[in-house]
Amino acid sequence: MILVTGGAGFIGANFILDWLTQSDEVVINLDKLTYAGNLNNLSSLNNDDRHLFVHADINERDILEQVLQKHKPRAVLHFAAESHVDRSIHGPAAFIETNVNGTFSLLESVRAYWQALPEQEKNAFRFLHVSTDEVYGSLEANDPPFTETTAYAPNSPYSASKAASDHLVRAYHHTYGLPTLTTNCSNNYGPLHFPEKLIPLVITNARAGKVLPIYGDGSQVRDWLYVSDHCAAIRRVLEAGQPGATYNIGGWNEKTNLNVVHSICDLLDELQPKVAGNYRDQIRHVKDRPGHDKRYAIDARKIERELGWKPAESFETGLRKTVSWYLDNDAWTAQVLSGEYQNWVALQYHVQDIH
Ligand code: NAD
Ligand code: DAU
Repeated sequence: MILVTGGAGFIGANFILDWLTQSDEVVINLDKLTYAGNLNNLSSLNNDDRHLFVHADINERDILEQVLQKHKPRAVLHFAAESHVDRSIHGPAAFIETNVNGTFSLLESVRAYWQALPEQEKNAFRFLHVSTDEVYGSLEANDPPFTETTAYAPNSPYSASKAASDHLVRAYHHTYGLPTLTTNCSNNYGPLHFPEKLIPLVITNARAGKVLPIYGDGSQVRDWLYVSDHCAAIRRVLEAGQPGATYNIGGWNEKTNLNVVHSICDLLDELQPKVAGNYRDQIRHVKDRPGHDKRYAIDARKIERELGWKPAESFETGLRKTVSWYLDNDAWTAQVLSGEYQNWVALQYHVQDIH
């Protein structure tokens, strides 16, 4: 079996659902269920013995050790993190606690477990750390995309905490020989994406007749990857990645934020037209994100060359699937928009921006 941390979040849940469509290998899902963790994401696995849920924080070493001893996973896939850049600006402490201290605590527990394994299992074991392209910092318009050897230059508390976790993972391979794999991926989008992030926020606000907030002039560039492509890349890295190596994962889809928001509006105009006007009328430029990174771009040639992975979806096909998923899943959105999310909207966006 495999142990996944953070499997109730956006990418972790998509990963588990994908995994179990392709394999009967049991997944233990250890998740703290923060505001971003949602067991409804995995409701199709209720009563499915191939999914075992453990409600715990990765900082709880005693629980981690019990889980490892009891289930003896052949691999640990580490998705759990605080993941939203804007939240890291308002409150960085949680990012240090989970992304740095939590990764350290997980690595220590895994190291003790791994060192005691019989030789054959020890050699076959993998610790796969799911990280981000944001650790490389920001590119100018004409800079080449990030490669696996680009120097780290994180700019937000979020990316700094992820960079720290990447360094710890690297050190555990170098010092202890732990068979680690690190993936640095660009912006994901797709089903089950919490509507604090740009794409699901814009889809949700547009349909609710609310403002579509663009930070600054909207010229910042991100590379977008449909989430099931990320899941396929992680499966492939787990299967054939070189221990100690890092792999950049990206979609070859660089878009400005304005361009992304326009594409969503145009799709909604087609799929769910308004009675009067169009969705672009709801766009407003709002205060910029402090320290806003200008551009991310990923050179994903290494994973293609060495492991034969490349994305299956274009931005156009992936975005159409995503908008359609939100149109078909109002109950999911209504459930995640309740509770703590309202406090976040009040903190991050001025009332006049949102209504
Ligand atoms: P998410 O915020 O949607 O989900 C995070 C999950 O981790 C939630 O289920 C949450 O409950 C859980 N969690 C948080 N703190 C925990 C703790 N202390 N102990 C146990 N569980 C905890 O995040 P996501 O977007 O699914 O991202 C998953 C991973 O992928 C993260 O490591 C993130 O840095 C990385 N990543 C995300 C993207 C992206 O575009 N979303 C891109 C590249 C890399
Ligand atoms: O690059 C990978 C990263 O992508 C992941 O590591 C992070 O976990 C993930 O959250 C994402 O980070 P971003 O900051 O790029 O994603 P976000 O959706 O928050 O913002 C995308 C862009 O849109 C960014 O330039 C900020 C802008 N934006 C975002 C929001 C929420 C807006 O203009 N308005 C908004 O309301």
